[in-house]
Amino acid sequence: MTVEHHFEPADFDLDAPICEISLKDEGDTRRLGQALAKSLAKGDFLGLVGNLGAGKTTLVQGLVATLQSNSPDDEVVVHSPTYTLINHYPTSPPVHHLDLYRLERYDDLESIGYWDVVDAGRSIVCVEWFSIIQESWPEEGVVVELVRDDSQGRMARIWAEGEQVCKRLEGLVDKMQEG
Ligand SMILES: Nc1ncnc2c1ncn2[C@@H]1O[C@H](COP(=O)(O)OP(=O)(O)OP(=O)(O)O)[C@@H](O)[C@H]1O
Ligand SMILES: [Mg+2]
Repeated sequence: MTVEHHFEPADFDLDAPICEISLKDEGDTRRLGQALAKSLAKGDFLGLVGNLGAGKTTLVQGLVATLQSNSPDDEVVVHSPTYTLINHYPTSPPVHHLDLYRLERYDDLESIGYWDVVDAGRSIVCVEWFSIIQESWPEEGVVVELVRDDSQGRMARIWAEGEQVCKRLEGLVDKMQEG
């Protein structure tokens, strides 16, 4: 099965991205994860879109590593949840990492316990390929799209929906530069 990535922001009632960030290498993608770890709070939803190998899991590695140890490049074992579907990291706040790549419809969300995780509001919920199932979008949260650029790097486009989460994302770019 190959799923091509066609993310259409309007399908999720998202208009203009709040920012676009150039990520020249894997370290930059991890640093974006670090900046998001510093910005997001318990109960926040982070949807990740972009083709196979775009860097979605890399970003979550940076986020989890930061919550564990404050360095985005530290060795942490963050496996892709493509087969396990849901991984949990007991960080503070905790992180749930999901991948909807192998799912197809709304019922699949029910059967993996998707809403239990999203509605509990006890963790930062990172969901790769969330846009495959339109209903998975909780209507408030952050979306990061990773796209290959002309060189070897990536371009990140970031949307935020919801008053609280938008506030939390102010200064995101500065946080990335803080290291
Ligand atoms: N900004 C970047 N520039 C260049 N390479 C990058 C960048 N970010 C991540 N990568 C590389 O992209 C590769 C794939 O990353 P990753 O596994 O995170 O993708 P993914 O989006 O999770 O893919 P999948 O859809 O298969 O889960 C890794 O080898 C990683 O080092
Ligand atoms: Mg992945």
